[in-house]
Amino acid sequence: METFQNKVVWITGASSGIGECFAKALTAKGAKLILSSRRREELERVKKGLNATDSDVFILPLDLLDTSKVDELTKQVIDKFGRIDVLINNGGVSQRSLVKDTPVSIDRSIMEVNYFGTIALTKSVLPYMIQQQSGQIIVISSIVGKFGFYLRSAYSASKHALMGFFDSLRMEVYKDNIKILIVCPGKIRTNISMNAVTSDGSKHSKMDESTVKGLSPEACVEQILNGVKNNKEEIFVGGKEIFALLIKRFFPRLFSKMIRKQKAE
Ligand SMILES: NC(=O)c1ccc[n+]([C@@H]2O[C@H](COP(=O)([O-])OP(=O)(O)OC[C@H]3O[C@@H](n4cnc5c(N)ncnc54)[C@H](OP(=O)(O)O)[C@@H]3O)[C@@H](O)[C@H]2O)c1
Repeated sequence: METFQNKVVWITGASSGIGECFAKALTAKGAKLILSSRRREELERVKKGLNATDSDVFILPLDLLDTSKVDELTKQVIDKFGRIDVLINNGGVSQRSLVKDTPVSIDRSIMEVNYFGTIALTKSVLPYMIQQQSGQIIVISSIVGKFGFYLRSAYSASKHALMGFFDSLRMEVYKDNIKILIVCPGKIRTNISMNAVTSDGSKHSKMDESTVKGLSPEACVEQILNGVKNNKEEIFVGGKEIFALLIKRFFPRLFSKMIRKQKAE
């Protein structure tokens, strides 16, 4: 994609962290935005902080747990802007609980939000992109979409599932000029660990040490937008932790030893 000027961009998880930074960066590039997440008041706060005209930012609350509403929400976007150029599947929830302590109901809820919610929204937007014969979908997976980690079994599984789904979709819609960029962030300095789900469904409410030291969400978004500009299919964003992906690929036994020694937080 050459430019975001006047492009209609739908961002999920726009109320904080990486999604909020997307909203700021894309406003500066002249895009028209749809901001979605559960908390309307936080979306209003993000909108107020943008240097954009009122009519160019549409607040559309969305709970990725409830896929029954996605077609109606997509119709509202089409009624307002007439098209959807870019879908940023960013909304999601992390996990901090051991497999042995986690009931399947929690595994399912993480999968519902991160995987089924995301693919339901994508399927609802897809017919419009196919009709337009153009579109860009950005999917925020994770480095744990490539390998497992302590306390994140369902989260890691949900991100692995996204990789398989969107790699397949990319092949199917190549002929329709729809591009798919999968992003695997490492540690990004957001509230992700605060909002992570524990074994009883409550929030973890702790900032991980490694998250505090992570890459800024602004730098993360800048790298993702460069990935779009350079027509990438998959990118890794973060600090030295992203080298783990190379070590796993070329030295899998060494990787296993190294990753076991990491702090389980
Ligand atoms: N930060 C990292 O280190 C890191 C690393 C790898 C991948 N990621 C991924 O990056 C994405 C953004 O996370 P972040 O780091 O910016 O964390 P964050 O600050 O916790 O943001 C998560 C966003 O997702 C939204 N969300 C959560 N549950 C939702 C639901 N049921 N329905 C709709 N929206 C929901 C939240 O908004 P509401 O609460 O208003 O719904 C919020 O806007 C996530 O997919 C995450 O897995 C982050």
